[in-house]
Amino acid sequence: MTNVKAAHSWALVTGASSGLGVDFAHELAAGGHNLVLTARRAERLHELATEIEARYPVQTKVIALDLSLPGAAAELKQQLDQASIVIDVLINNAGFGIFGEFIEQSLARVQAMLQLNIAALTELTHLFATGMVARRRGQILLVASVVAFQASPNYAAYAASKAYVLSLGEALHEELRPHGVTVTVLSPGATATEFFDVSGQQSSPMKRAFMMPSRPVVQIGLAAMRHGRASVVPGWKNTLMTWSTRLLPRIVLRKMAHWVLRKE
Ligand SMILES: NC(=O)c1ccc[n+]([C@@H]2O[C@H](COP(=O)([O-])OP(=O)(O)OC[C@H]3O[C@@H](n4cnc5c(N)ncnc54)[C@H](OP(=O)(O)O)[C@@H]3O)[C@@H](O)[C@H]2O)c1
Repeated sequence: MTNVKAAHSWALVTGASSGLGVDFAHELAAGGHNLVLTARRAERLHELATEIEARYPVQTKVIALDLSLPGAAAELKQQLDQASIVIDVLINNAGFGIFGEFIEQSLARVQAMLQLNIAALTELTHLFATGMVARRRGQILLVASVVAFQASPNYAAYAASKAYVLSLGEALHEELRPHGVTVTVLSPGATATEFFDVSGQQSSPMKRAFMMPSRPVVQIGLAAMRHGRASVVPGWKNTLMTWSTRLLPRIVLRKMAHWVLRKE
């Protein structure tokens, strides 16, 4: 169970301007955490901060920046150090996907996605885990995806970036546990956020059948984090899907994924 007491402790939520990040912010504030909110869209972050301070007895700090730029994670840490804010809970949530054939995707956009989904997430985890280990106190949640569990044609690079997140998180769970720090990977399936507007994947019957609202996904992730679990997949359909990757040959899995993720 958790060694982080919510009252007066600070949580950092990346990607707090929409979707899962907004619900992470509300749930953590309801639990008594002060919040650092970050993403690119400053106006949305300030609106959320105002709403949260009106509803819950917590403090907020907004830091708007583009985490896909090299050096952004270090800049974020530096700003928090200058404000003497110590992070006890890190929610590495910011990320995006690009749907469609790999060679048709802009290379610059793929690079930005890898910088955000992999490099910034890794840097933030390293920068904040170091202090957590020294204090022997901390919780880190990494947001991966069900596509992390198998090769996913039409989400090839995105799924590979999330496979990295899942692998990193599970490994760090073991490494950091003896130091009093928990690492938990949350792997959602299709969730009703702005994700698909950004990725460009059209709606489909399959996607609609799996779609979960954002709030329960966040609640399941935070419950797993508080219980110090290594990994959690929200929803029974998503759980079944990820379990199937242990039973079926990889060739079957990737061909099925190609059919499910086909372009309409
Ligand atoms: N929704 C799903 O179906 C689904 C499924 C599995 C996993 N996930 C994962 O869940 C996480 C949250 O996504 P979501 O579903 O909540 O989608 P979303 O509504 O599009 O939210 C994505 C968040 O990431 C932030 N972000 C994007 N690019 C950024 C950048 N360069 N620098 C800083 N922040 C950036 C966005 O803020 P700004 O645009 O303001 O920067 C936004 O706050 C992602 O890691 C995603 O891969 C989502």
